[in-house]
Amino acid sequence: MPGEKSGGATVFVIFGGGGDLAWRKLIPALYDLFVDGRLPSRFKILGTGRSQLTDDSYRRRLQEGVDQYSAFGKTDEKKWQAFSSKVYFLQTDLGDSRSFAALSRELTAYDESLSEKAVRIFYLAVPPDMFQPIAVGLSGEKLNRDRSHARIVIEKPFGHDLESARKLDRLLGEHFLESQIYRIDHYLGKETVQNILAFRFGNTLFEPIWNRRYIDHVQITVAESDGIGHRSGYYEGAGALRDILQNHLLQILCLIAMEAPISFGSDEVRQKKVDVLRAIRPISLDQVGQNAVRGQYGSGWTRGERVGPYRSEPGVAPDSATETFAAAKFFVDNWRWQDVPFYLRTGKRLPARISEVCIHFRSVPHQAFPGAALADSRPNRLVMAIQPEEGILLRFEVKHPGPSMALAPVMMQFYYREAFRTRSPEAYETLLLDVVRGDSTLFMRSDQTETAWAVIAPILDMWQSVRPTDFPNYHAGSWGPEAADIFIARDGRSWTLPTFLQCREDLATCRVAREPLEQPGSGPEAGG
Ligand code: BG6
Repeated sequence: MPGEKSGGATVFVIFGGGGDLAWRKLIPALYDLFVDGRLPSRFKILGTGRSQLTDDSYRRRLQEGVDQYSAFGKTDEKKWQAFSSKVYFLQTDLGDSRSFAALSRELTAYDESLSEKAVRIFYLAVPPDMFQPIAVGLSGEKLNRDRSHARIVIEKPFGHDLESARKLDRLLGEHFLESQIYRIDHYLGKETVQNILAFRFGNTLFEPIWNRRYIDHVQITVAESDGIGHRSGYYEGAGALRDILQNHLLQILCLIAMEAPISFGSDEVRQKKVDVLRAIRPISLDQVGQNAVRGQYGSGWTRGERVGPYRSEPGVAPDSATETFAAAKFFVDNWRWQDVPFYLRTGKRLPARISEVCIHFRSVPHQAFPGAALADSRPNRLVMAIQPEEGILLRFEVKHPGPSMALAPVMMQFYYREAFRTRSPEAYETLLLDVVRGDSTLFMRSDQTETAWAVIAPILDMWQSVRPTDFPNYHAGSWGPEAADIFIARDGRSWTLPTFLQCREDLATCRVAREPLEQPGSGPEAGG
C-alpha cells in the first residue's frame, strides 16, 4: 500500500554502488519507494566502489539515473534533496581488509547515531568473481554475525552450471545462514508474475480445471526486441539458456505448475516450487535434439530499424556459438501434469518485448454442432500477460449473431492499468522492500537454483559439446529459427503469437527481412 512504511532503521550497503545496476535499477527503485513513503523513516544508503567520488559527486551521478529511470519521471528537486541527503559514497578496495574495517566503523557510527541497531543489507551489485572477497571481508569484520540484522543480496548469475552454483552456495554458506541470503530473480518481483499466485489460489473458478484433464499444453514466452547492448562480456559466456530460461522461464513454469501452498510463508511457497522442478522429466543427452532448439540472430529489422547480426555486436567473437534464442519442452511428471508439455522460449532481437504465459485448453470432448458451425471455433485459451501489457485474457466460444448456428471465439480482457488506478511497482521496488521486511518468499533458495541448473544441464552439455553449424539461423525481427517452428509442429502445435496490443503495434512497425540469412564467414557483417 502506498504510504505504508516498512521496517525499522535500515542501511543499504551497495557493493558496485557506482555501477550500472545501481544507477539504472537500485537507486531509482529506492527513490521511488521513498517518494511513495514506503522506505523505513530511518535509512541510509552507502554506495561503495573503487572510484574516487565525493558524496556530492556520487549523488549528482545517481540523480541522472533517477531522472531517466524513476517511475515518477524527472526528479522533484525537494524530494531528491531529502532522499539524497541519506546517500553516501565509500571508496573501497575489496582486496584490502582495511576497506571492510572502514565500512564496519561507518555502520557502527550509524547505529550509535540512532541509538538503535539498523538492519544491514549488503547488496552485491558486482560480477560473481567479487562475491568471495566480499563475503570473506564482511565475515572478517563479523558483519555477517547478527542473523536478524545482516542480510546479503546477490544477483544472478548464480554460477554458470550446477557445479559452480554448488560452489557458490558452499562459499556463501560458510559465512551466512540460508535465511540471511536473498538471491534475486527480478521476474519474481514483477506484479504480474506474483499475480499468477493470486489468480490461481484466490479464485475457486480455475483451480479445478488446472490440470491434464483440461489443459492441452502451456507456452511461456519471454521475448525481447533489444540485442545484448554492451553486455557481451557477460552474454558471450551465458547465452539465452543460462540468461533467461534457467531462471525467469523456469520460475514462471513453477508458479503455473505448483500445488496450492498451505500458507504463503516463504518456505512453504518455495518448497512447492522446488517440487515442480524436481518433477521435471530429465532429458537424456540423446533427447536434447527433440526437446530443445537454439538460435542466433543475424541481421534484420527491429522496430523499423536495420540492425546487424549478433556476431557483429561489440565484444562478440566473429564465429561466436552463443545462442541468443532458446526454446525447450519440459514435462512435469506428477498426477496433475503428466504428459502436458510446457513449451518455453526466449530470444533477443525478436519482433517485440513481450512476456506472456498462454494456457491452451483441450478441445471439447464431443462436438454436437454441425461441421459448418465450427469453421471458426477454437479451443479455450487463457493468456497471462506479464509485460509490457499487464493483464489476463480469456478466449471462449460464443454464438455468432445471425440466423444460423455458428461458433466464434471472443476475448474477455482484464488490464491492470484499466482496473486499478495505481501504478504497479517496479520489480526491484518490491524485492528491495521484501529484503527490508525480511520476507524471502520471492527469492530463490539454494536448492531451487541448483535444481534449475540440473534441469537444463543436459541441454547445456549438449550445446557446449556440439558446435552449431547453422548460426546465425534467424533474422533479427523474426520469431526465431525455423527449427523452433518445426520443433513444436512435430507435436501438432504451433507457437502462439503474443496477444496484446503493444505487440501488434510493434509488429506493425517491424519489417522482417526476407533475404537469405548470411552463413558463417560470408557477407560483410559475418566477420564482425
Ligand atoms: C535479465 C537478463 O535477467 O533480464 C537480460 O540478464 C534481460 O538479458 C532481462 O534483458 C530482461 O528483464 P525484463 O525485466 O526487461 O524483462
